[in-house]
Amino acid sequence: MSVVVAFLFLKLFAIATLNISVCNGSSYVGCVESEREALLSFKQDLEDPSNRLATWIGDGDCCKWAGVICDNFTGHVLELHLGNPWEDEHGHQAKESSALVGKINPALLDFEHLIYLNLSYNDFKGIQIPRFLGSMGNLRFLDLSGAGFVGMIPNQIGNLSNLQYLNLRPNYLGGLYVEDLGWLYDLSLLENLDLSGVDLSKVSNGPLVTNALRSLLVLQLAGCQLSHFPPLSVANFSSLVTLDLSHNQFDNSLIATQLYGLCNLVFLDLSDNNFQGPIPDTIQNWTSLRHLDLSSNHFSYLIPEWLNKFSRLEYLSLSSNRLQGRISSVLLENLSSIQSLDLSFNELEWKIPRSFSRFCNLRSISLSGIQLSHQKVSQVLAIFSGCVSDVLESLDLSNTTLSGSLTNQIGKFKVLNSVDLSENSISGQVPWSLGKLSSLRYLDISNNQLNGTVSEIHFANLSSLTFFYASRNSLTLKANPNWVPVFQLEELDLRSCYLGPPFPSWLHSQNHLVNLDISDSGIVDTIPNRFWKSITQFNYLSLSNNQIHGEIPNLTEVSQLGTLDLSANNLSGQLPLLASNVMVLDLSKNKLSGSILHFVCHETNGTRLTQIINLEDNLLAGEIPDCWMNWRYLLVLRLDNNKFTGKLPTSLGALSLLRSLHLRNNNLSGTLPVSLGNCTELETIDISENEFSGNVPAWIGERFPRMIILILRSNKFHGVFPLELCHLAFLKILVLAGNNLSGTIPTCISNFTAMATFLGSDSIYTIQYPSDFSFPGKFFNITEQFVEEELITLEGKTLTFKAVLRLLTNIDLSNNKFSGEIPAEITVLRELRSLNLSHNFFSGRIPENIGAMALLESLDFSSNRLEGEIPKNTVNLVFLSHFNISYNNLSGEVPDEAQFATFDSSSYIGDEYLCGPVLKKLCTVVDENGGGKDGYGVGDVLGWLYVSFSMGFIWWLFGL
Ligand SMILES: *[C@@H]1O[C@H](CO)[C@@H](O)[C@H](O)[C@H]1NC(C)=O
Ligand SMILES: *[C@@H]1O[C@H](CO)[C@@H](O)[C@H](O)[C@H]1NC(C)=O
Ligand SMILES: *[C@@H]1O[C@H](CO)[C@@H](O)[C@H](O)[C@H]1NC(C)=O
Ligand SMILES: *[C@@H]1O[C@H](CO)[C@@H](O)[C@H](O)[C@H]1NC(C)=O
Repeated sequence: MSVVVAFLFLKLFAIATLNISVCNGSSYVGCVESEREALLSFKQDLEDPSNRLATWIGDGDCCKWAGVICDNFTGHVLELHLGNPWEDEHGHQAKESSALVGKINPALLDFEHLIYLNLSYNDFKGIQIPRFLGSMGNLRFLDLSGAGFVGMIPNQIGNLSNLQYLNLRPNYLGGLYVEDLGWLYDLSLLENLDLSGVDLSKVSNGPLVTNALRSLLVLQLAGCQLSHFPPLSVANFSSLVTLDLSHNQFDNSLIATQLYGLCNLVFLDLSDNNFQGPIPDTIQNWTSLRHLDLSSNHFSYLIPEWLNKFSRLEYLSLSSNRLQGRISSVLLENLSSIQSLDLSFNELEWKIPRSFSRFCNLRSISLSGIQLSHQKVSQVLAIFSGCVSDVLESLDLSNTTLSGSLTNQIGKFKVLNSVDLSENSISGQVPWSLGKLSSLRYLDISNNQLNGTVSEIHFANLSSLTFFYASRNSLTLKANPNWVPVFQLEELDLRSCYLGPPFPSWLHSQNHLVNLDISDSGIVDTIPNRFWKSITQFNYLSLSNNQIHGEIPNLTEVSQLGTLDLSANNLSGQLPLLASNVMVLDLSKNKLSGSILHFVCHETNGTRLTQIINLEDNLLAGEIPDCWMNWRYLLVLRLDNNKFTGKLPTSLGALSLLRSLHLRNNNLSGTLPVSLGNCTELETIDISENEFSGNVPAWIGERFPRMIILILRSNKFHGVFPLELCHLAFLKILVLAGNNLSGTIPTCISNFTAMATFLGSDSIYTIQYPSDFSFPGKFFNITEQFVEEELITLEGKTLTFKAVLRLLTNIDLSNNKFSGEIPAEITVLRELRSLNLSHNFFSGRIPENIGAMALLESLDFSSNRLEGEIPKNTVNLVFLSHFNISYNNLSGEVPDEAQFATFDSSSYIGDEYLCGPVLKKLCTVVDENGGGKDGYGVGDVLGWLYVSFSMGFIWWLFGL
């Protein structure tokens, strides 16, 4: 055989072999040995709790391993798909539990042919992005999002000049940062760039995006802390399809004028910035847009007319801006492709046009807060009742001034998933056809005027219902005691619906219920044992304002419970033991009795997280125990209106976060423990109506720089008004009434800054506590807050102030033994609404400048030893509605102008030298020249007996 023949033979053989292998469907030579080793090394540095890399073992064909894709001919690893899947086969989010955890082994560099690397949502434990990744020059796709990388993004990424896709989203905003973006411009093939969440605020050099990135189709820079858009004038974005600049701090609309050539833009998200002024007109040329999100900015003025041109728009959100005015009926008529429309939270008025009945793709519409004043709910449903009713999934008409009644047409909307009709004036009954909406998951009809009875039939097919809110209507829920609903709720709010008198037994079937509010629902019953057992499932539970009786079992196993509100019932017996995780406990207004020693001193496993305890209005007795060192997160402690005795325990001083302490109306005695001075966050102290004694401690003024409300009324404090109190610059309510205090009022009271100038803070009486609700739905959105409540005696009436407390400024020093002059400095306190110095021994004159306290509504100087005249400028107190200067030695004319005409003689009784028409007593006032001047004649003869030291008057009398 010649060499040639032999060669041909070999070649034929090779072709034959090749054919065979093609027939077998396995043309590739298998995995490259060195790369298999590299994969194993890579695996070695990772923990793999969910065994995602179970196939990565032994010496088999690594091209068949999970997530590995090889070249069919060379066997080289081309792609590594190791991103953590978002969902497992059950649709549960599996991100955390299936993360690969550990280090990135540099063996990665052995994959010289790698073009695709996805490591997203694994956990590389807060390391920097390794620089060596920059050596993988063939990479076209790199996804490191959510993979636990922190710190500066290495410039070496810029060496990956073949990259088409780059995603470096950090796990949390600012987790990664860039100082110099120069490297980015080397990535000229980049089509898809996602740096959302990367802190770009420090990028100083040059433009952010330039023509260098001319291939860019998708640019995502959400949450990059960008506040000004660097110069863009050279950039042409004609290729850009998607632009996401949401969640930054852009504060001018110029950005829109700087972006031009966006003729292919399909997706634009500028939400959650600080844009102001009108919606920029540049947008009108980008008519290929399908997704436009301008929500959560400060855009104002009208919705622009040009929106009419956007017939391809599928998603439009203008929510949470300051857009105003009436939306003309034609404006949105052309949005014929619209799938999702959100105009909520603006100051708009609209009448949904009939043309919307043709928008057969409309899946979601949100109009919350928009006035639909000329439409009734049935008219709105009629518009949507055509083709829209087949596709509409989400309908939010909350707070839209809708009236009328809800009719059975609602049953047509078969795919409705979420319905919010809350905060309207919808009246009448709940239609039974609601029970047909088998897809309904979220239903909110709270705060309307719905009445009548809701029964099983209304829920017949609501098997998907998960969130149901119907509070604040006049509804009665009547169900057979054996009713087992088809739904499993997670949140239920039926506040002030009528459910009673027996405890609603169908609740026992709701094993997924996490947040439940059935307060004020007419329950007159005990809480069944079965329900107490299920209490472990709850996060938020309120049964307040019912007539529930019986005892509360120990709550030591309620590991989910954050808030428990059983206030205003008839619960009796002892306080329960409480698990450490409960953050808010309100058992006020019950008949709980006995000592609280076990409750306070019970040891728990974990740290106590309790922030608010309200036990007021019970029959609790004994001493306040000395175990507060275990309660160090406590913000609010209310023990008012009980029967506690003895001294305050030292350990109260361990409550270093305490902001509000209420002990009113008990039988507590002794001096205030010095340790209380360690509670330096205190804003409110009310220990009134007890038997506390000793001096008012000077340290109150020194240790409580945030003090706003200080009420020591009706105790046995003696001694003087300590000068140190004047340090309380934020003090707005000071009540020392009903003690044995003596001495003078110090002139330094002018230092009560919050009584002198308006500081404007109105969050001050709202104590917000972090809520750990890891839960969707409505309860999650409620900012949990505790509104400070205070009993204040004003104008002789004791009132409970809650909402308006922040407006109140009050000094009440009545019923003590204070003496000396009322210091003139008091008139500096121009924010004061109420001043009560009655029943003391004040002498001298009413401060000359009293008229400067222009906001005074109540002024009481009665029962002192004041003398002289009422200053003329008192008539400037135009808000005064309660005025009492009786039982002093005042003299001269009583004002009768303006509101002073409304005060009768009881305001002046016992001041026999006062005169004037109100008192029907003629005044004769000494004029400058010492001569007498007659007042007006009034019928009462006694009124003439005005005793004056005016000689002229006496001569005149003798002359009679
Ligand atoms: C390799 O072959 C498989 C089928 O055997 C095919 O699905 C895949 O696309 C091929 N890959 C490449 C890179 O050619
Ligand atoms: C819209 O585009 C036209 C031409 O394409 C241009 O003349 C006009 O200035 C653009 N309008 C705005 C507001 O940018
Ligand atoms: C209802 O809407 C009005 C006007 O848009 C707004 O001022 C108000 O706060 C909203 N009320 C609720 C409860 O959301
Ligand atoms: C419900 O309210 C309507 C008025 O809105 C009233 O006419 C009707 O009698 C009420 N029905 C019931 C059962 O209270």
